[in-house]
Amino acid sequence: MPKLKLPAPPIPSKLNPRPRRPGVDEKVGPLDHAKEAGMSAVDWVDERTSLSGGARWMMFRKVPKGTNWFYTLGSATMFAFLNQAVTGVFLAMYYDPSPTQAYESIRYTTNEAFLGEFVRGMHKWGSSVMVILIFLHMARTFFFGAYKYPRELNWVIGVALLILTMAMSFTGYLLPFDQRSYWATIVGVNINGTGPLVGPYLSDFLRGGPEFGAITLSRFYAIHMLLIPGLIAGLIGAHLYLVAKLGTTAPPWLKAETDERLRRDEA
Ligand code: HEM
Repeated sequence: MPKLKLPAPPIPSKLNPRPRRPGVDEKVGPLDHAKEAGMSAVDWVDERTSLSGGARWMMFRKVPKGTNWFYTLGSATMFAFLNQAVTGVFLAMYYDPSPTQAYESIRYTTNEAFLGEFVRGMHKWGSSVMVILIFLHMARTFFFGAYKYPRELNWVIGVALLILTMAMSFTGYLLPFDQRSYWATIVGVNINGTGPLVGPYLSDFLRGGPEFGAITLSRFYAIHMLLIPGLIAGLIGAHLYLVAKLGTTAPPWLKAETDERLRRDEA
């Protein structure tokens, strides 16, 4: 049976430059140059990279009928992650991961640095928002059966993203180094230690030895701001590549429409 090929989705009219009209568009003023500057810059890059093909492949996709607000939860999770990344960079400008300075540096950020309390609040509340959104997104993909063939690998990548997001919350909690974060992390690391086989090794790795101390704090900081965000960013890339390649699933209550040409002759 010949394979049916869907036509490529049209480029939005706003992105198509209007053709020049002879006689009308002859006089080109500085304002016209300014208007076209953005487009020319994009063209310049595209001529050298052909990136627009990839961007079109990623952005202008067919979505199934019945796609609804629940399908925005994945992107919402991604924006929560971007918020964490951006606010985290600014917090890192003031944070000092030493046992004697950590608490003071965060006190300074909160009470004295310009917009410090706001940025810290965005990061702190944002972490809860990201955890809530990731669970809602996972529930959506589960209840819509989106984990089934051929999207199993995307589910597995999702599980890794979930574990890494939890690890972000765990490692970030220690950083203010106040009484609550100190003791809560000791409890958390000890719970890890009770895990079968790898448990004791994992808690030793997290502490940076048998004792909880200065090394633990810098280790948590490095894991929190370098290791895990890098892994999450890479995995989100793979996750989105698979979403674009495989397309999203239709809601389970929609019946598949078969093309007339694919239907077997019943006579
Ligand atoms: C940082 C975390 C995550 C981000 C940024 C993210 C992002 C996205 C985005 C943007 C989509 C496109 C459609 C949609 O939003 O529903 C998607 C789809 C999907 N995600 Fe995630 N996701 C994350 C975590 C997870 C988790 C924890 C799971 C499950 C364990 C998961 C499983 C899936 C699956 C199976 C699809 C395909 C859905 C379909 O085909 O309808 N994702 N993800």
